[in-house]
Amino acid sequence: MSATTLSLESRAKLSDGNLIPRLGLGVYEMTDNEASRAVAWALEAGYRHFDCAEWYYNEQAVGSAINRFLETPSCPIKRSDIFYCTKLQSNNGYDAAKRSISQSLQKCGLGYIDLYLIHSPYGGKAKRLESWKAIQEAKDQGLIKGVGVSNYAQRHIQELLDSNPKHRPTINQCDLHPFMARLQLVEFCRSNGIEMECWGPLVRAERFGHPVILQIAKKHSATPAQVLIRFSLQRGYITIPKSVSRDRIKENADVFNFQLDQPDMDQLLSLDEYLVTE
Ligand SMILES: NC(=O)c1ccc[n+]([C@@H]2O[C@H](COP(=O)([O-])OP(=O)(O)OC[C@H]3O[C@@H](n4cnc5c(N)ncnc54)[C@H](OP(=O)(O)O)[C@@H]3O)[C@@H](O)[C@H]2O)c1
Repeated sequence: MSATTLSLESRAKLSDGNLIPRLGLGVYEMTDNEASRAVAWALEAGYRHFDCAEWYYNEQAVGSAINRFLETPSCPIKRSDIFYCTKLQSNNGYDAAKRSISQSLQKCGLGYIDLYLIHSPYGGKAKRLESWKAIQEAKDQGLIKGVGVSNYAQRHIQELLDSNPKHRPTINQCDLHPFMARLQLVEFCRSNGIEMECWGPLVRAERFGHPVILQIAKKHSATPAQVLIRFSLQRGYITIPKSVSRDRIKENADVFNFQLDQPDMDQLLSLDEYLVTE
């Protein structure tokens, strides 16, 4: 997709054929109240993708807010227009993964999960592959539509692919932004049909004052957050900025009336410092 044709409705086609909205709302560190409000505001603003996790302890609040919106008599959309992702907190074996999937499904109350990720590779090879077995079975049962991983290094992905899985991962969600570019991992994932999704696309608000970000923001009459979101989208990454503020939720989706040019993109890519955000 060319940068000029991007919009809030843009979806990427994953290797399993499913479509994922390119921009979504991250809900990490939101209390239930914050999540209820933020999800409702995001839906009003046109977001259709929500990135949740067992670890965030707000799956119920996020799912309920989505269902409340869908149940509004004048609601213009249906469940199938929403993309809900959640993640397995820990690799504790096959039975534990089965239990987690079932609990996540029950908590969100959405009938199915659009994308289910292994949150992190911790736990060792045997446990990672046991989790994957449980996840594949849930996909075969229709409980989960799509499957993927998060925070996987190349060797973890290779290990999974070498196990000759029935369902290959469609996504690797990693911290990814100009200060953590991971170009080799991106290339490896893409060559294996795995889309990159970036968490921390706003660098967790830690680099808004960087002179290059400020200069590019000024050039496009945009905010630093909007520059970072545009960068991610133009790199072709699925992007899930988090905000609990109504205005910032709107601001983060208001990124389709300008375009970064190649010198901007090159300058942003040159900022890589392998920054691990706190
Ligand atoms: N797979 C993983 O291991 C993993 C790890 C971390 C995160 N994630 C996912 O990725 C999502 C995004 O990452 P993140 O939450 O860590 O960080 P982020 O989206 O890079 O940054 C969020 C921070 O930026 C602030 N912010 C948001 N919009 C802003 C704006 N327009 N102007 C100024 N400040 C703004 C937020 O504050 P306010 O909320 O007050 O606006 C918050 O402090 C998470 O919510 C989660 O869904 C996944």
